[in-house]
Amino acid sequence: MADSTLIKLKSLQEFEEVAIQKLPERGLGFAVTYITFGDKRTRREMQKAFNRYWLQPNVLTARQPFPSTWTTLLGQPIRIPICIAPTADQAVVAPPDGDILTAQAAAELGTLMIYSSVSNLRIDEFGSKVPPNGLHWAQTYLFKDKRNTLHIVRNAEKYGFKAIVVTADSPVDYISSSGRGEEVDEQIVPSEMTITISPNVAYLKGKARESRKYSDHELWNPSDGTAYFEAFCAPTWEDLAWLKGQTKLPIVLKGILTAKAAKLAVKAGVDAIIVSCHGGRQLPGVQPPLFALPEVLEAVKGSKIEVYLDGEIRFGSDVVKALALGARAVFIGRPVLWGLAVKRKEGVKRVLQILEDEFKTVLTMCGCSSLQDVDSSLVKLKSLF
Ligand SMILES: Cc1cc2nc3c(=O)[nH]c(=O)nc-3n(C[C@H](O)[C@H](O)[C@H](O)COP(=O)(O)O)c2cc1C
Repeated sequence: MADSTLIKLKSLQEFEEVAIQKLPERGLGFAVTYITFGDKRTRREMQKAFNRYWLQPNVLTARQPFPSTWTTLLGQPIRIPICIAPTADQAVVAPPDGDILTAQAAAELGTLMIYSSVSNLRIDEFGSKVPPNGLHWAQTYLFKDKRNTLHIVRNAEKYGFKAIVVTADSPVDYISSSGRGEEVDEQIVPSEMTITISPNVAYLKGKARESRKYSDHELWNPSDGTAYFEAFCAPTWEDLAWLKGQTKLPIVLKGILTAKAAKLAVKAGVDAIIVSCHGGRQLPGVQPPLFALPEVLEAVKGSKIEVYLDGEIRFGSDVVKALALGARAVFIGRPVLWGLAVKRKEGVKRVLQILEDEFKTVLTMCGCSSLQDVDSSLVKLKSLF
């Protein structure tokens, strides 16, 4: 695809449409199922939550162009408060090393990328190949075999990652536990594709696991269950305390949706929280993160915990609403994968640029002339009646 065509894509919705069209053309139709998966009703509720807030613009107070969107996350500067959420198996969308392309795009645009522990690229390979000026955090599960978790933590320390993100919303795999398997048409799983699945998980069921490439249909249904047996092991706050004792890196807890859990996070001494429901891919029927945000912020009041948000951020106005309600930054998941699918690194950059441009335009339209002007007076909750 010529760059001019990329420039013609003006919205994240257009990226989604083109990705859904392109992936099957390249024999990667199964990646559409993989990216799209998530409880439809939960995803719709998340979108509706953004619509439930109206923007309330100031007038005659803006400056043009918008002066600066620089901020910090855990003391590290980022150019825009729009960051990249961890997503597993990026090689499925952009073989063979999608994560590196994502890291390059993030570094070129001055933002943060969270690397997923269930990447197809081992953390040390990722760490040694990413741009040195990039900002990375390493996501991990509290794996059943602690050696897997320690592997992530030690390499995160060694390769200059600035925080460990612990995903807390996945005690079991909703998909397999509920019997709601992803329906993948065998026809569209490419027979020639081979990929390394979860190479960070070197220990499975207490034994050393051979790291090998998976092919064909096994990609979807690996015979050894890969990382998932190790990740979905119902970890506890004690496991989090253990992790905290293992590293000096800040800990970010991902997947918090209630005041009760946020208070426990304060007690556990975490440094930040991502209010998130895993993009609707885990527990269905939860409160949309945007609605959970105020109670989480209230619960952490008085602590130094930073609070971020993810889930169905698709427009610049969504970013403004999240920030107005108190999020320090937002994260995007699927749109990055659409960007990778459409035009690899350049696609991811364009996705981020579209969101950034919309974000700045909406800020200006709201009469803001700095991020400090973004507060709760910019939004009003629509009454249900
Ligand atoms: C394909 C895919 C893979 C994901 N893999 C992970 C993961 O490995 N670890 C994790 O904590 N969250 C994972 N997530 C959840 C994202 O980090 C994020 O919470 C979610 O995608 C945000 O919603 P959005 O996709 O609507 O932007 C994944 C999401 C998707 C779509």
